[in-house]
Amino acid sequence: EPLRLDVVTIFPDYLRVLDLSLIGRAATDGLLDLHVHDLRDWTHDRHRTVDDTPIGGGAGMVMKPDVWGAALDDVLSSALPTGPMDAAAGADAASPAAEPIAARPNEPRRVLVIPTPSGDLFTQRTAEDLAGADQLVFACGRYEGIDARVAEHYAARGVEVHEASIGDYVLNGGEAAALVMIEAIARLRPGVLGNPESIVEESHTGVGLLEYPVYTRPVAWRGRDLAATQPVLLSGDHARIARHRRDQAIARTAERRPDLIARADPALLDVGDRVA
Ligand code: ADE
Repeated sequence: EPLRLDVVTIFPDYLRVLDLSLIGRAATDGLLDLHVHDLRDWTHDRHRTVDDTPIGGGAGMVMKPDVWGAALDDVLSSALPTGPMDAAAGADAASPAAEPIAARPNEPRRVLVIPTPSGDLFTQRTAEDLAGADQLVFACGRYEGIDARVAEHYAARGVEVHEASIGDYVLNGGEAAALVMIEAIARLRPGVLGNPESIVEESHTGVGLLEYPVYTRPVAWRGRDLAATQPVLLSGDHARIARHRRDQAIARTAERRPDLIARADPALLDVGDRVA
């Protein structure tokens, strides 16, 4: 079944790049079911207001919980091909006492992802976990954020809520972060990537080391001759090549990401590589 992806944003055009490249082809192939929504479609006032000043004072604007609630009630109760829609979930959505809409057995796994610089760090592990969901709803707010009661409300109703940051820097809104997360997640779904082996070998999966440097023809280029610098790669000895690449991966990781060396699974390193 396709992974259903919903993105709610005040900048739907920002997500149009999803129609291109790998993700667009996966949607065309029926592997992903992508829906981009304009948050302002759930406003009722003449100015289509989505934000207001912070209660308690301070700079910036906060996104209104009533508009987000109306949007997310609709999007989280959309029919999925993986399970029958619970008609009551949509109809009862306005009631704060409504029973959980996602906690029943055999219900599809729906995750509400809220990109925010104050969320949990999004990693390859997060991507692997979220790739197992049936529906991911990305609620993209401006960086000052969405009224905090929205996340609380859906979590209390049994929706899996994930506030996620893609790194320790501040973007103007959640859209670019949602694009990053969607690409990382979608390529892990069966059939989206042409070559599933490339997932196993790449950085941040498997042993937890960065990738070794890679080369292609010509063997000598602008004075850099692999026959001189990397003769093992030309030896045809696959066991030696694998060891050499692993050594290069360790050296590169130690140089660039010593934090990853410390966390690497010792069982997957050679005895001589283990850090005391
Ligand atoms: N919104 C603004 N900055 C962000 C970040 N670093 N990660 C996720 N969402 C964001």
